[in-house]
Amino acid sequence: MADLANLETTALAALRACTDEESLRAWKTRYFGDKGEVQQALKGIGGVPKEQRPAYGKEANRIKESLWAEYEQALAREQERTLEASLTSDALDVTLPGRMVPRGRLHVATKVLREIYAIFADLGFQIYRSREVEDDLTNFELLNMPLHHPARDMWDTFHTTTDGVILRTHTSPGQIHVMRDPRYAGRPIRVILPGMVYRYEQVTTRSEMMFHQVEGLAVGETITMADLKGTIIAFARRLFGDDRTVRIRSSYFPFTEPSIEVDMDCIVCGGEGCGLCKKTGWLEIMGAGMVHPVVLRNGGYDPAKFSGFAFGMGPQRITMLRYAIDDIRQFWANDLRFLRQF
Ligand code: FA5
Repeated sequence: MADLANLETTALAALRACTDEESLRAWKTRYFGDKGEVQQALKGIGGVPKEQRPAYGKEANRIKESLWAEYEQALAREQERTLEASLTSDALDVTLPGRMVPRGRLHVATKVLREIYAIFADLGFQIYRSREVEDDLTNFELLNMPLHHPARDMWDTFHTTTDGVILRTHTSPGQIHVMRDPRYAGRPIRVILPGMVYRYEQVTTRSEMMFHQVEGLAVGETITMADLKGTIIAFARRLFGDDRTVRIRSSYFPFTEPSIEVDMDCIVCGGEGCGLCKKTGWLEIMGAGMVHPVVLRNGGYDPAKFSGFAFGMGPQRITMLRYAIDDIRQFWANDLRFLRQF
């Protein structure tokens, strides 16, 4: 009986000394394995005098059950502790903000172009794509500017090494391509011609060597200046707001007669005069006019029967007005700090 009491005390002490699951399992083998000490103690009943056996057996079984219960509790406590520890160390904070996925965006020039397309689409204009590499004939001559015509000086031209092949200085040669396109061939026309144009120019805050233009062309049997005026006013109000005032001035282009230039009241000062409008109260937005009879004829349309209007605007200048951008060079400088603002 003293051996049994001794076994219980040492086994309990050993159990309490266990610090992890591994030592607990070693303890289990030591006391409850096939040849474990508890097993041995139970077998030891054979050496006990007969009359003491019932008491010994009872005590040995009590110790066995009590040690087993202690072991199971200790194991459960240890497993709980391990789980708790791993939960705190691998903690996932679901309240942390996620990582931003960088997204691209449209270039501000593309955005404004698309707005312009949408406005003219509503007015019934289709988009017509025309070439950037032109010949002298289409860029100038067919637009009523024969060789040595002084008006050619209005556009400083990039020439190529091939004689007569140039980069277009404006989108107006597209007018000839549309009129001569077999899909139109004498039928009414209502198109816009967007695209890049090139000029051998001094680059300044207001002038680039390459920039977009959007040309417009409408040809039909009853088109008048009133249609041009209505179209321009509708466009300006859609792009800049309903309360805009549009001013039309007479001007000169060899391929339109009469020719006009269109101003809008300054978006910054509303006409009072400020730095943006150079104290005039007005901002120029496009050149336009009624298609010159010579140009209609060059396009294959009989000027006795047909008339038309045309306009040409620079979306970069328009974007500058809209967002108060003070330097046109920002458009193609690829500075993300600039581009991300739009
Ligand atoms: C023309 O190019 C004419 N073809 C426009 C036209 C078309 C008139 C049809 C009549 C009928 P102009 O050179 O003014 O005109 O240019 C038109 C627009 O392009 C200008 O109003 C301006 O917005 C823009 N632009 C001109 N030069 C530059 C430049 N260097 N950088 C940026 N935009 C420019």
